[in-house]
Amino acid sequence: MCGIVGYVGNRPALPILIEGLKRLEYRGYDSAGVAFAGADGVTVTKSKGRISVLEHVLDYSEDATTGIGHTRWATHGAPNDLNAHPHLDSAGQLALVHNGIIENYAALRQYLTSLGVEFKTDTDTEVLVQLISKLYEGDLEQSVKKALKEVRGTFGIAVVSSHEPGVIVAARSGSPLLVGVGDGEYILASDASAILAHTKQVIYLEDNEVVRVCKDGIRTTTIDNVPVTKEIEEIEWTLEQIELGGYEHFMLKEIFEQPAALRNCMRGRIISSEGTVHLGGIADVSRELTRAKRIILTACGTAWHAGLVGEYLFEDLVRVPTEVEYASEFRYRNPIIEDGTIVLAISQSGETSDTSAALREAKQRGALALGVVNVVGSSIARATDAGVFLHVGPEIGVASTKAFSGQVAVLAMLACYMGRRRHMSQGAAAEFLEALERIPDQISSILEQNDACKAVAEANINQDNWLYLGRGYQYPVALEGALKLKEISYIHAEGLPAAEMKHGPIALITDDMPVVFIATKGTQYAKIIGNIEEVRSRGGRVIAVATEGDTQIEKLADSVIHVPDTLEPLQPLLSVVPLQLIAYHAAVLRDCNVDKPRNLAKSVTVE
Ligand code: G6P
Repeated sequence: MCGIVGYVGNRPALPILIEGLKRLEYRGYDSAGVAFAGADGVTVTKSKGRISVLEHVLDYSEDATTGIGHTRWATHGAPNDLNAHPHLDSAGQLALVHNGIIENYAALRQYLTSLGVEFKTDTDTEVLVQLISKLYEGDLEQSVKKALKEVRGTFGIAVVSSHEPGVIVAARSGSPLLVGVGDGEYILASDASAILAHTKQVIYLEDNEVVRVCKDGIRTTTIDNVPVTKEIEEIEWTLEQIELGGYEHFMLKEIFEQPAALRNCMRGRIISSEGTVHLGGIADVSRELTRAKRIILTACGTAWHAGLVGEYLFEDLVRVPTEVEYASEFRYRNPIIEDGTIVLAISQSGETSDTSAALREAKQRGALALGVVNVVGSSIARATDAGVFLHVGPEIGVASTKAFSGQVAVLAMLACYMGRRRHMSQGAAAEFLEALERIPDQISSILEQNDACKAVAEANINQDNWLYLGRGYQYPVALEGALKLKEISYIHAEGLPAAEMKHGPIALITDDMPVVFIATKGTQYAKIIGNIEEVRSRGGRVIAVATEGDTQIEKLADSVIHVPDTLEPLQPLLSVVPLQLIAYHAAVLRDCNVDKPRNLAKSVTVE
């Protein structure tokens, strides 16, 4: 979703802002803009569409060394030139970029209109810049603070003004913001990828903190003017990790990175021969975990699918009642949190607004709040009592792939960690962990079948409705396979527990409808073969993901992709890979923008 970049220092700001904005493109956006503050006024250039469009209208003689930039994902007001950020006050002396939503914007707009302010845009953001301008009494930082006290909602903002040309004032509440610390320069951003090319030293702002930066220094205070001492932290990601490295798309790169990503995720955490898992981030709460009476997993999108695998894992290995909840539902229900309840938020970005709110709700009700998060320093990671990082590296493609594998791997390790502290034997844990350690190599062998997956996509590319069916541990994979296909190729796809097909969806099956069965060997193999027969007899095209050496299924399916055998609870880590590849090739064949699918955002920071 929306992205913020800001620069103060000795270099011209424009190229740094544009480079930063390009690094944020993956988050999803529909317009972009930049603003520069000079003593004689503020200049703003903005336009609907891609950053390449903005580049065509920019004045490259701009040499200001202070500036802010923004990519907007429309919420209030259409995605057009006018509604693009930065927004200016009526006097043209203040420019502001904003991520988040100002919930009481209508009341504030009415109030400001009654004072004679004329609004130019349909956005909620413009009220903020106009309000700061109205409250300005010679100190930009103080007027920003005064204005923010009147605002309800979420914000990450950055403001420049011709009153203080070498200064950026920025603040956050519910929307991420960090400050990269360079040599005589500061780069503000809503996402670390925008600053990595310049520095790895970073200060993370917390909610209700305001920062004033100029090239000589940085000052952090709360909205109520209490000084805050911030630590400089180091970003562990590298620049290469956020670049394509020879791949055509980030999604393909990230699918192929899965063996290495999972090795990193497991490194130093498993001693398989002893049946032991070490998870440093939860060591302090291990006794609470051992005594847990109930586990609630909460997440959105792909992370929710990983959570569903987690539900099966925790029931099998930990034997604790477990449920998985959509974060958007959990946060607004009246959830029952009893003593001994653990709420575990799963989120790649650590910024998803619903997941973050669900976690807050759970904490308020006394649950132990855990996180399974990829982005270190993210809002959710900071809000948890304890947690486990994925360590799979940055994920840029909007369609989540390696983060899903990382989430499932972490949940598997966590289930084993807790299981061992309850009733799981050392031998059973050793067998489980040895199988987990084999997964990266097994994924590599699946990746060698990339061409076979492409052939499946080619053979079915003209079909507009697909079904994905699985049972047990493969049911979440069916959901994930369908989601991957629809989000990037715009083909309609549904994932279901295979047995549910008979309760409605079977009516959809007509000649040539692709039905993807995740039909690996396991406890429900015979049942799923029965479901395949039902589809065949109605003319559907059967695409099967099956276990290596399964020859029976070749007689029943139109196409088969084989995956190596593993323990049933770990099968999702393997069977999801061909489905990611099929979705990828379908999107390429349909000429879709794989890494930036329409209307979608990598990190959904609004409700
Ligand atoms: C968006 C992304 C999905 C992701 C979901 C949850 O919808 O497009 O890929 O699964 O958000 O994101 P999170 O960062 O919380 O895992």
